Amino acid sequence: MKLEQAIMERKSIRAFTKDPLPRDVIEEVLQQAIQAPSAINLQPWEFTVISGEEKERLSNLLLKSYREKRISCSPGAKGPLPAQLSARGEQSFATLNPALDELGLSFNDFINEGSCRFYDAPVAIIICMNTIFSHRRYLCIGAALGYLTLAAHARGLGTCPIGLINAYEDQLREFLDIPDDREIVIGVALGYPDWNSPINRLKTPRAPLGEFIRWFD
Ligand SMILES: Cc1cc2nc3c(=O)[nH]c(=O)nc-3n(C[C@H](O)[C@H](O)[C@H](O)COP(=O)(O)O)c2cc1C
Repeated sequence: MKLEQAIMERKSIRAFTKDPLPRDVIEEVLQQAIQAPSAINLQPWEFTVISGEEKERLSNLLLKSYREKRISCSPGAKGPLPAQLSARGEQSFATLNPALDELGLSFNDFINEGSCRFYDAPVAIIICMNTIFSHRRYLCIGAALGYLTLAAHARGLGTCPIGLINAYEDQLREFLDIPDDREIVIGVALGYPDWNSPINRLKTPRAPLGEFIRWFD
């Protein structure tokens, strides 16, 4: 698959088949993820891969925590978003509503509970960073995340980044035995997309390019 095609086609996948992922396929995807650029080539990413019964146990634990704490996916903003910005989020997910209606699911429960279960993907990946690094090195993790999602897509796999796991960090840390000197940055659901699910019809739009650029010629 051409890179341009992968970039334009990739989208977050929120319904997966039950097919397990062979370890060599996961390694191929991660091998490509770590080709991402990083400051001074420090490669600050660390991956924890969870599958099988452990993945099921982790999902159940996070789901239980969500039902107790009810912390939802949020814009991660420092204050109320201006209308133009909040409209981006609302427009994006409005396209999901027909599929949720079809399945009789509420948006909040689907996104929050789904995120905690990694949308029932066979594999969950947690990306951590050594706390010795400053938060600027998040950029490197972001680059690796981008590569990971594209590498997976090029192999016919689907991904969904899961930021919500940070709300349930304590449980995650204990379950995966992640030491205090490692920061949990992001999770990723990985598996084969279930193209029969209406959920995967969602393709979020992008605002016009002009909204993001200033030119100095
Ligand atoms: C840092 C980050 C955190 C995210 N966290 C979640 C999440 O917790 N749950 C979820 O369903 N999607 C999550 N997403 C996926 C975004 O909702 C998705 O990328 C965005 O709506 C654009 O859609 P697309 O990926 O299909 O292009 C996250 C994406 C990023 C980059």
